[in-house]
Amino acid sequence: MSWAIEINNLNVWYSDKHILKDISFKVPKNIIFAIMGPSGCGKSTLLRAMNRLLELNPNAKVKGQVKINGIDVYNDNVDITWVRRQFGMVFQIPNPFPHLSVYDNVALGPKLNGLVKNKKQLDELVKHALQQAYLWDEVKNDLKKPASMLSGGQQQRLCIARALALKPKIILMDEPTANLDPVASSKIEELMLELKENYTIIIVTHNSQQAARISDYVAFLYMGKLVEVGETSTVFTKPRHELTEKYVVGKIG
Ligand SMILES: Nc1ncnc2c1ncn2[C@@H]1O[C@H](COP(=O)(O)OP(=O)(O)OP(=O)(O)O)[C@@H](O)[C@H]1O
Ligand SMILES: [Mg+2]
Repeated sequence: MSWAIEINNLNVWYSDKHILKDISFKVPKNIIFAIMGPSGCGKSTLLRAMNRLLELNPNAKVKGQVKINGIDVYNDNVDITWVRRQFGMVFQIPNPFPHLSVYDNVALGPKLNGLVKNKKQLDELVKHALQQAYLWDEVKNDLKKPASMLSGGQQQRLCIARALALKPKIILMDEPTANLDPVASSKIEELMLELKENYTIIIVTHNSQQAARISDYVAFLYMGKLVEVGETSTVFTKPRHELTEKYVVGKIG
Protein backbone atom coordinates (compact mmCIF):
# COMPACT_ATOMS: atom_id res chain seq x y z
CA MET A 1 0.00 0.00 0.00
CA SER A 2 1.26 3.49 -0.72
CA TRP A 3 0.57 6.04 1.97
CA ALA A 4 -0.38 9.69 1.65
CA ILE A 5 1.53 10.42 4.84
CA GLU A 6 3.76 8.37 7.11
CA ILE A 7 4.66 9.81 10.49
CA ASN A 8 7.50 8.24 12.46
CA ASN A 9 8.42 9.09 16.05
CA LEU A 10 7.30 12.68 15.78
CA ASN A 11 8.04 14.87 18.79
CA VAL A 12 7.26 18.55 19.15
CA TRP A 13 8.27 21.01 21.85
CA TYR A 14 7.24 24.62 22.43
CA SER A 15 10.28 26.01 24.25
CA ASP A 16 10.93 23.25 26.80
CA LYS A 17 7.34 22.03 26.94
CA HIS A 18 7.03 18.58 25.33
CA ILE A 19 3.77 18.75 23.36
CA LEU A 20 3.71 15.76 20.98
CA LYS A 21 5.27 12.58 22.28
CA ASP A 22 6.62 10.01 19.89
CA ILE A 23 3.70 9.93 17.46
CA SER A 24 3.75 7.33 14.65
CA PHE A 25 0.95 6.48 12.21
CA LYS A 26 0.22 6.13 8.50
CA VAL A 27 -2.53 7.70 6.45
CA PRO A 28 -3.79 5.80 3.39
CA LYS A 29 -4.54 7.78 0.23
CA ASN A 30 -8.02 9.01 -0.71
CA ILE A 31 -9.63 8.67 2.66
CA ILE A 32 -10.83 10.96 5.41
CA PHE A 33 -8.55 10.63 8.41
CA ALA A 34 -9.82 12.25 11.60
CA ILE A 35 -7.66 13.34 14.52
CA MET A 36 -9.77 13.63 17.65
CA GLY A 37 -9.02 14.38 21.26
CA PRO A 38 -9.74 16.87 24.03
CA SER A 39 -8.77 20.53 23.90
CA GLY A 40 -5.05 21.10 24.30
CA CYS A 41 -4.01 17.52 23.47
CA GLY A 42 -1.96 18.67 20.45
CA LYS A 43 -4.24 18.21 17.43
CA SER A 44 -3.50 21.55 15.77
CA THR A 45 0.19 21.17 16.56
CA LEU A 46 0.18 17.80 14.82
CA LEU A 47 -1.41 19.27 11.66
CA ARG A 48 1.08 22.14 11.63
CA ALA A 49 3.97 19.74 12.00
CA MET A 50 2.86 17.99 8.80
CA ASN A 51 3.12 21.01 6.49
CA ARG A 52 5.94 22.67 8.46
CA LEU A 53 3.73 25.58 9.40
CA LEU A 54 5.08 25.14 12.94
CA GLU A 55 8.31 26.76 11.81
CA LEU A 56 6.57 30.11 11.83
CA ASN A 57 6.88 29.80 15.60
CA PRO A 58 10.54 30.29 16.57
CA ASN A 59 10.02 28.44 19.86
CA ALA A 60 8.76 25.26 18.20
CA LYS A 61 11.15 22.33 17.84
CA VAL A 62 10.38 19.20 15.83
CA LYS A 63 12.07 15.79 15.84
CA GLY A 64 11.05 12.76 13.81
CA GLN A 65 9.80 12.10 10.31
CA VAL A 66 6.80 13.17 8.27
CA LYS A 67 6.92 11.43 4.90
CA ILE A 68 4.89 12.29 1.84
CA ASN A 69 5.26 9.71 -0.92
CA GLY A 70 8.29 8.42 0.94
CA ILE A 71 10.00 11.83 1.15
CA ASP A 72 10.65 13.22 4.63
CA VAL A 73 9.47 16.84 4.68
CA TYR A 74 12.10 17.57 7.35
CA ASN A 75 15.00 16.31 5.25
CA ASP A 76 17.50 19.10 4.69
CA ASN A 77 17.36 18.64 0.92
CA VAL A 78 13.62 19.17 0.73
CA ASP A 79 12.33 22.51 -0.46
CA ILE A 80 9.80 23.99 1.97
CA THR A 81 7.83 25.52 -0.90
CA TRP A 82 7.36 22.02 -2.32
CA VAL A 83 6.21 20.81 1.10
CA ARG A 84 3.65 23.58 1.51
CA ARG A 85 2.36 22.97 -2.01
CA GLN A 86 1.52 19.36 -1.19
CA PHE A 87 -1.01 20.59 1.35
CA GLY A 88 -4.07 22.75 1.37
CA MET A 89 -5.16 24.06 4.74
CA VAL A 90 -8.51 25.13 6.10
CA PHE A 91 -8.89 26.68 9.55
CA GLN A 92 -11.51 26.83 12.27
CA ILE A 93 -12.49 30.42 11.59
CA PRO A 94 -13.13 30.98 7.88
CA ASN A 95 -10.34 33.31 6.80
CA PRO A 96 -10.87 34.50 3.24
CA PHE A 97 -9.19 37.78 2.33
CA PRO A 98 -12.26 39.84 3.28
CA HIS A 99 -11.70 42.81 0.97
CA LEU A 100 -10.76 40.77 -2.08
CA SER A 101 -13.51 39.63 -4.39
CA VAL A 102 -14.78 36.06 -4.38
CA TYR A 103 -12.96 35.55 -7.69
CA ASP A 104 -9.66 37.02 -6.49
CA ASN A 105 -9.67 34.95 -3.31
CA VAL A 106 -9.38 31.84 -5.48
CA ALA A 107 -7.34 33.38 -8.31
CA LEU A 108 -4.57 34.96 -6.24
CA GLY A 109 -2.65 31.78 -5.35
CA PRO A 110 -2.56 30.31 -8.87
CA LYS A 111 -1.54 33.73 -10.26
CA LEU A 112 1.28 34.19 -7.75
CA ASN A 113 2.49 30.63 -8.32
CA GLY A 114 2.38 30.84 -12.11
CA LEU A 115 -0.09 27.98 -12.48
CA VAL A 116 -1.91 29.61 -15.40
CA LYS A 117 -0.81 31.15 -18.69
CA ASN A 118 -3.67 33.50 -19.39
CA LYS A 119 -6.96 34.95 -18.19
CA LYS A 120 -9.02 32.22 -19.84
CA GLN A 121 -7.11 29.49 -17.99
CA LEU A 122 -7.44 31.42 -14.76
CA ASP A 123 -11.20 31.81 -15.24
CA GLU A 124 -11.49 28.09 -15.83
CA LEU A 125 -9.40 27.22 -12.80
CA VAL A 126 -11.42 29.55 -10.55
CA LYS A 127 -14.69 28.14 -11.82
CA HIS A 128 -13.51 24.55 -11.38
CA ALA A 129 -12.28 25.17 -7.82
CA LEU A 130 -15.57 26.87 -6.89
CA GLN A 131 -17.49 23.97 -8.42
CA GLN A 132 -15.39 21.45 -6.51
CA ALA A 133 -16.15 23.34 -3.31
CA TYR A 134 -19.92 23.25 -4.06
CA LEU A 135 -20.00 27.03 -4.15
CA TRP A 136 -20.15 27.96 -7.84
CA ASP A 137 -23.95 28.00 -8.20
CA GLU A 138 -24.29 30.27 -5.18
CA VAL A 139 -21.65 32.82 -6.22
CA LYS A 140 -21.42 32.71 -10.01
CA ASN A 141 -23.28 36.01 -10.32
CA ASP A 142 -21.37 37.64 -7.44
CA LEU A 143 -17.77 36.88 -8.36
CA LYS A 144 -16.80 40.53 -8.02
CA LYS A 145 -18.34 41.03 -4.60
CA PRO A 146 -16.02 41.08 -1.58
CA ALA A 147 -15.70 37.77 0.21
CA SER A 148 -16.91 39.40 3.43
CA MET A 149 -20.41 39.53 1.91
CA LEU A 150 -20.71 35.74 1.98
CA SER A 151 -22.23 33.76 4.85
CA GLY A 152 -19.91 31.93 7.24
CA GLY A 153 -20.51 28.58 5.57
CA GLN A 154 -19.95 30.10 2.12
CA GLN A 155 -16.75 31.73 3.34
CA GLN A 156 -15.51 28.37 4.58
CA ARG A 157 -16.29 26.77 1.19
CA LEU A 158 -14.48 29.69 -0.45
CA CYS A 159 -11.44 28.87 1.69
CA ILE A 160 -11.71 25.27 0.52
CA ALA A 161 -11.90 26.47 -3.11
CA ARG A 162 -8.86 28.67 -2.50
CA ALA A 163 -6.94 25.66 -1.18
CA LEU A 164 -8.05 23.42 -4.07
CA ALA A 165 -7.02 25.98 -6.70
CA LEU A 166 -3.39 25.34 -5.75
CA LYS A 167 -3.80 21.65 -6.58
CA PRO A 168 -2.68 20.10 -3.30
CA LYS A 169 -2.52 16.35 -2.66
CA ILE A 170 -3.57 16.49 0.97
CA ILE A 171 -6.11 18.78 2.60
CA LEU A 172 -5.65 19.61 6.26
CA MET A 173 -8.74 20.88 8.04
CA ASP A 174 -8.53 22.18 11.59
CA GLU A 175 -12.05 22.05 13.09
CA PRO A 176 -13.51 23.38 9.83
CA THR A 177 -17.11 23.31 11.06
CA ALA A 178 -16.64 24.47 14.65
CA ASN A 179 -17.96 27.94 13.85
CA LEU A 180 -20.77 26.93 11.52
CA ASP A 181 -24.43 26.16 12.07
CA PRO A 182 -25.64 22.56 11.55
CA VAL A 183 -26.80 23.13 7.97
CA ALA A 184 -23.55 24.78 6.88
CA SER A 185 -21.61 22.07 8.75
CA SER A 186 -23.36 19.24 6.99
CA LYS A 187 -22.64 20.89 3.62
CA ILE A 188 -18.94 20.87 4.46
CA GLU A 189 -19.17 17.24 5.57
CA GLU A 190 -20.87 16.26 2.29
CA LEU A 191 -18.22 18.16 0.40
CA MET A 192 -15.45 16.28 2.22
CA LEU A 193 -17.00 12.95 1.26
CA GLU A 194 -16.95 14.09 -2.36
CA LEU A 195 -13.39 15.43 -2.22
CA LYS A 196 -11.83 12.24 -0.88
CA GLU A 197 -12.24 10.72 -4.35
CA ASN A 198 -9.36 12.93 -5.46
CA TYR A 199 -7.58 14.05 -2.29
CA THR A 200 -6.55 12.75 1.08
CA ILE A 201 -8.28 14.67 3.82
CA ILE A 202 -7.04 15.01 7.38
CA ILE A 203 -9.53 16.66 9.69
CA VAL A 204 -9.04 17.70 13.29
CA THR A 205 -12.20 17.60 15.34
CA HIS A 206 -12.99 17.43 19.01
CA ASN A 207 -16.44 16.24 18.04
CA SER A 208 -16.25 12.45 18.16
CA GLN A 209 -19.65 12.16 16.49
CA GLN A 210 -18.35 14.07 13.50
CA ALA A 211 -15.33 11.76 13.34
CA ALA A 212 -17.66 8.74 13.47
CA ARG A 213 -19.90 10.15 10.73
CA ILE A 214 -17.37 11.07 8.13
CA SER A 215 -13.97 9.49 8.70
CA ASP A 216 -12.59 6.23 7.41
CA TYR A 217 -9.68 6.20 9.83
CA VAL A 218 -9.34 7.93 13.15
CA ALA A 219 -6.55 8.72 15.57
CA PHE A 220 -7.24 9.50 19.21
CA LEU A 221 -4.77 11.84 20.83
CA TYR A 222 -4.60 12.41 24.58
CA MET A 223 -2.13 14.71 26.33
CA GLY A 224 0.26 14.64 23.40
CA LYS A 225 0.26 10.87 22.99
CA LEU A 226 -1.36 8.77 20.31
CA VAL A 227 -3.63 6.47 22.28
CA GLU A 228 -5.24 4.63 19.41
CA VAL A 229 -5.44 4.71 15.62
CA GLY A 230 -7.31 2.54 13.15
CA GLU A 231 -10.38 2.13 11.02
CA THR A 232 -13.13 4.32 12.40
CA SER A 233 -15.69 1.50 12.56
CA THR A 234 -13.32 -0.57 14.70
CA VAL A 235 -12.14 2.25 16.95
CA PHE A 236 -15.73 3.24 17.72
CA THR A 237 -17.16 -0.25 18.21
CA LYS A 238 -14.19 -2.14 19.68
CA PRO A 239 -11.72 0.36 21.07
CA ARG A 240 -8.58 -1.29 22.37
CA HIS A 241 -7.89 1.33 24.99
CA GLU A 242 -10.11 2.27 27.90
CA LEU A 243 -9.38 5.98 27.37
CA THR A 244 -10.65 5.79 23.80
CA GLU A 245 -13.83 4.14 24.98
CA LYS A 246 -14.40 6.87 27.57
CA TYR A 247 -13.77 9.55 24.97
CA VAL A 248 -16.11 8.18 22.32
CA VAL A 249 -18.97 7.81 24.78
CA GLY A 250 -18.37 11.37 25.94
CA LYS A 251 -16.98 10.67 29.42
CA ILE A 252 -13.86 12.73 28.77
CA GLY A 253 -13.19 15.77 26.64
N1 LIG B 1 2.47 28.88 20.22
C1 LIG B 1 2.47 28.14 21.34
N2 LIG B 1 3.39 28.34 22.30
C2 LIG B 1 3.39 27.60 23.43
N3 LIG B 1 2.51 26.61 23.70
C3 LIG B 1 1.57 26.38 22.78
C4 LIG B 1 1.49 27.12 21.54
N4 LIG B 1 0.43 26.66 20.82
C5 LIG B 1 -0.11 25.68 21.57
N5 LIG B 1 0.56 25.49 22.73
C6 LIG B 1 0.26 24.48 23.76
O1 LIG B 1 0.43 23.21 23.17
C7 LIG B 1 -0.58 22.31 23.60
C8 LIG B 1 -1.29 21.75 22.37
O2 LIG B 1 -1.97 22.80 21.70
P1 LIG B 1 -2.82 22.57 20.38
O3 LIG B 1 -3.28 23.90 19.94
O4 LIG B 1 -2.05 21.74 19.45
O5 LIG B 1 -4.03 21.70 20.98
P2 LIG B 1 -5.41 21.26 20.31
O6 LIG B 1 -5.57 19.81 20.56
O7 LIG B 1 -5.46 21.73 18.90
O8 LIG B 1 -6.49 22.07 21.19
P3 LIG B 1 -7.92 22.72 20.77
O9 LIG B 1 -8.87 21.56 20.64
O10 LIG B 1 -8.25 23.58 21.94
O11 LIG B 1 -7.72 23.48 19.49
C9 LIG B 1 -1.46 23.08 24.54
O12 LIG B 1 -1.03 22.79 25.85
C10 LIG B 1 -1.18 24.53 24.21
O13 LIG B 1 -1.33 25.34 25.34
MG1 LIG C 1 -6.63 23.14 17.88
